[in-house]
Amino acid sequence: MISYQDGIFHLRGETVSMVLKVDRWGLLELLHFGEAVADGDAEAFRFRPGLGWGSSVLLDDTDTESCPDALGLAWSGPGRGDYRESPLELGGEAVDLRYESHTVSDGIVPTGTSLVQAHGEGESLTVTLSQPGAKLQLIFTLFGDVICRRTVLENTGDRPLTVTKLMSSLLDLQGSFLMTTFDGGWIREREKHTVPVGPGRIVNESTTGASSNRHATGVLLSETDTTEDHGRVYGFDLIWSGNHHTAAQQSLQGLTRVVQGVSPAGFALTLEPGAKLRTPEAVMTFSTEGFGGLSAILHRFVSDHIIPAQWRRKERPVLFNSWEGCMFDFDHRRLVGLAKDAKDLGCELFVLDDGWFGQRNDDTAGLGDYTVNKKKLPHGLKGLGEKINSLGMSFGLWFEPESVNMDSDLYRAHPDWALTDGFQPLLGRHQLLLDLTKPEVRDYIVENVSAILDSAPISYVKWDMNRHSVALGVKAYDHILGLYEVLARIFGPRPQILLETCASGGDRSDLGMLCFGPQVWCSDNTDPICRQTIQGSLSYLYPQSTFGAHVSAAPHAQTLRSTPLCTRGYVSFFGCLGYELDLKHLLGIEKDEIRAQIGLYKQYRQVFQFGQFRRLDNGWQVSGDGITIAACFRGLVEAAPGYERLRLKGLDPQKRYRFHTVPRKLRIGQFGSLVKHVAPVDLDPNGLILRTADRHITLPDGEQAFTASGAALMAGIRLLPLFRGTGYHKDQRTLTDFGAELYIIEEDQT
Ligand code: DGJ
Repeated sequence: MISYQDGIFHLRGETVSMVLKVDRWGLLELLHFGEAVADGDAEAFRFRPGLGWGSSVLLDDTDTESCPDALGLAWSGPGRGDYRESPLELGGEAVDLRYESHTVSDGIVPTGTSLVQAHGEGESLTVTLSQPGAKLQLIFTLFGDVICRRTVLENTGDRPLTVTKLMSSLLDLQGSFLMTTFDGGWIREREKHTVPVGPGRIVNESTTGASSNRHATGVLLSETDTTEDHGRVYGFDLIWSGNHHTAAQQSLQGLTRVVQGVSPAGFALTLEPGAKLRTPEAVMTFSTEGFGGLSAILHRFVSDHIIPAQWRRKERPVLFNSWEGCMFDFDHRRLVGLAKDAKDLGCELFVLDDGWFGQRNDDTAGLGDYTVNKKKLPHGLKGLGEKINSLGMSFGLWFEPESVNMDSDLYRAHPDWALTDGFQPLLGRHQLLLDLTKPEVRDYIVENVSAILDSAPISYVKWDMNRHSVALGVKAYDHILGLYEVLARIFGPRPQILLETCASGGDRSDLGMLCFGPQVWCSDNTDPICRQTIQGSLSYLYPQSTFGAHVSAAPHAQTLRSTPLCTRGYVSFFGCLGYELDLKHLLGIEKDEIRAQIGLYKQYRQVFQFGQFRRLDNGWQVSGDGITIAACFRGLVEAAPGYERLRLKGLDPQKRYRFHTVPRKLRIGQFGSLVKHVAPVDLDPNGLILRTADRHITLPDGEQAFTASGAALMAGIRLLPLFRGTGYHKDQRTLTDFGAELYIIEEDQT
């Protein structure tokens, strides 16, 4: 709810408040952003700069409180006494925007750039600031405990304005913080880094043209003693898929300025008289319940207001993707064979990845030419799709419509459609980006992709993009708006198609893309140990239903690490499950294990995909409808391990729960020459007998089953002992390096 009284605005959610004040100089002060407070609390947060500020500048020479550099603000401008980062730059001119008016309205203010969906919720505050020749709207929309913010700049004068920076949000927060960012690169997305925010500005920025795998759009600001379950923490993100910039810096007065928006790198736009410039939306929220509490708020917001309405809590199919198993080497027969095997394992959707069109037999040619390769697919996509449907699976297809190979008919016909910078083209994965600021390019993509989607029974699209942009500044900004237009035109009229976006894995997994497709392929790295970092980091800001998580072969293609099949499965359970490997090399016992995995995932799919996700000390947990499922992940085995506890979260302490281990099978081969201790004859660990036995015989690992109160389960129950050099025993857990266990905890209704 948003209230206004005597120059004070109060945006109040369930647990979060933002209190803003129009001060006597017409500046918009941020009195408070954090815990929910009462209307009428503004005086308690009043800034009293009081004393003289030495070298600082006053707005009113007779009033020592009028020092912009010392105030906590919600907007500012350069050259008028505030020397911290400015959110707006007009080509080096001073800016002095002051309060003019405000409005409070229901839902979203229709300015053309909001991608958020209100669904009958939300309330907006628009504060208009002005100066001669310019007007600026600051738009705040409150959804529960999340505030979305954007700005609209209008040239109200009679001369052009040069805009070199326009951010979506500025906030001066009281206090000292640690800033957590999620950084990396290809196959190493979302590594978490935490640094103290001090007087030197920390900038989390992407200038690749995409939101990028280098520095993700979302950041956290926490107090030093904040933990997973306790303490104060802010979350910031952007609903934007292009170049971005979030900066934090602490002033001498102890205020931490946070600025969020499109990266100003190379930005220079001429805003003609009467024209407007609109920013994308910044997202912000706060929790006193640690990182876990913050994630819960953000997950709800993404599920309710970001992903397309038709996919809200709608179960996603277990998919099989052809890429890792086949790469470019397939034909109709091989795909149908794979689809039959995938169906037999329980997969529901068969996705044909790269290589189905033009001369696309490797990644050097064919991008841009969306005509089906009849050599590989003599029955066309329609024939293949219908065949797959007849097997009882739905059919999905990969596209990379934003890019072009120079060795393609499209490039030969329209070399000017590729984005270039005036120098010799620099290739990335042998390709260039198409210039989406050109209407004819957008039309080409919309027409070609739409025609293919309508030509075959396609119910899923993987939309890939594997090239950084050469476009800087305004061009890069317009390029992303062009992309959004293309996605809206293709998928708006086809809401039944499940869209998963991808960019070399996680090079563009952000809230902007999630507004068009409810899930992202968050990394090409499917090694489950790396995925614990990648999916774990994503979970700070996004719910698990927004990321595709696939089981692939071991040793893993990117790390050469061998991990147990159950670990690969359990990590992928905490996302939208898929399989991506060559099935023909799987052993019968591996197929049985995959069948069991998919069966279990389907049984609890609602909980896995839409339950409340929580990070545990040694794993993850999801809960919903009286069911909690917890996975414990481990690294290297320790000799002589001690007792181990599993501490669950979010249960009702008064209720009783049934707890059981999901059965795990041990391969005989993993015991090598130790088998001689249990076998009556001396077996060669590399011999045929043991190798054959390994393909057929498994031993059950230790399982626990009991009932306990929620209080006990949250205090931490003791798990079965781990293997400690004493031989196999069915009442212990025999986990190897990178092992994992899964536990199901259900409310006991008896
Ligand atoms: C990059 C993607 O991230 C992969 O999953 C795969 O689709 C390849 N492109 C295909 O070229």
